Amino acid sequence: MHTVTTLADLRPATEALRASGTLALVPTMGALHEGHLALVREAREAADHVAVSIFVNPRQFGANEDLDAYPRQLALDSALLEVEGVGLLWAPSPEEVYPQGYATNISVAGVSEGLCGADRPGHFDGVATVVCKLFNQVRPDIAFFGEKDWQQLAVIRRMARDLDLTLPHVEAIHGVPIVREADGLAMSSRNAYLSADQRATAAALPREMRAAIARLAAGDPAHSVLPALTGELLEAGFDSVDYAELRHGDNLAPTAGAAPGTRLFVAARIGGTRLIDNMPVVG
Ligand code: PAF
Repeated sequence: MHTVTTLADLRPATEALRASGTLALVPTMGALHEGHLALVREAREAADHVAVSIFVNPRQFGANEDLDAYPRQLALDSALLEVEGVGLLWAPSPEEVYPQGYATNISVAGVSEGLCGADRPGHFDGVATVVCKLFNQVRPDIAFFGEKDWQQLAVIRRMARDLDLTLPHVEAIHGVPIVREADGLAMSSRNAYLSADQRATAAALPREMRAAIARLAAGDPAHSVLPALTGELLEAGFDSVDYAELRHGDNLAPTAGAAPGTRLFVAARIGGTRLIDNMPVVG
């Protein structure tokens, strides 16, 4: 695996790979877990070469968020990617990505609003901006993102469509299903923040979401199921629930109940850790 940290070295490295086949990109912020490795494995199936980026993007963290605490383990990540047969690791510094004088921001209206967009102002601008830059830097044929960050995926698809990005078409942006721990908790680099007690509590998130979906499927109205879900999460030990909402999976428009295409989206906090999850609501 070739590790590259400067734009000057990146272009020849990606061109060399593209000369002998298709190139897939898996953008990450590192602290890799099985969820990331699932993205890498899908990318390997789909393309001749795989590039992974590891960049903890300061622009997608709010002033009071965990930028400094975010786990960084480049040597370990690099070893994991080597085993997975990744050809290129793109690991730039913040100065390389946002040099002195950097002044451009990409803001995607609509799908960025509500859900995490309401609780994390500016977050999706930071994501859209860095992903646009990563696409232009690496110039992949296809790219892979986890469905745990469903809203992020919707923002990236909208941005790629709207800006006519260099990827051949929007279908080139692939969502990969959530990878879960044995007790159902969605894998996330932020799970590392949880104490043993908090980790046990966290399992209530997928469990109570599944229970809420079962009630919706049985015909209980969303206006009673969603507040009850919030109550169950608080009861289980979560400190607060940022949102528990039903939205259409494609455009993230609010839906009233278990209509086709609906997903349940939840964000809840334990101590300083904010966990998110989403699941399809089968009517
Ligand atoms: O999902 C992530 O890890 C990040 O938001 C991404 C897509 C790599 C952009 O920094």
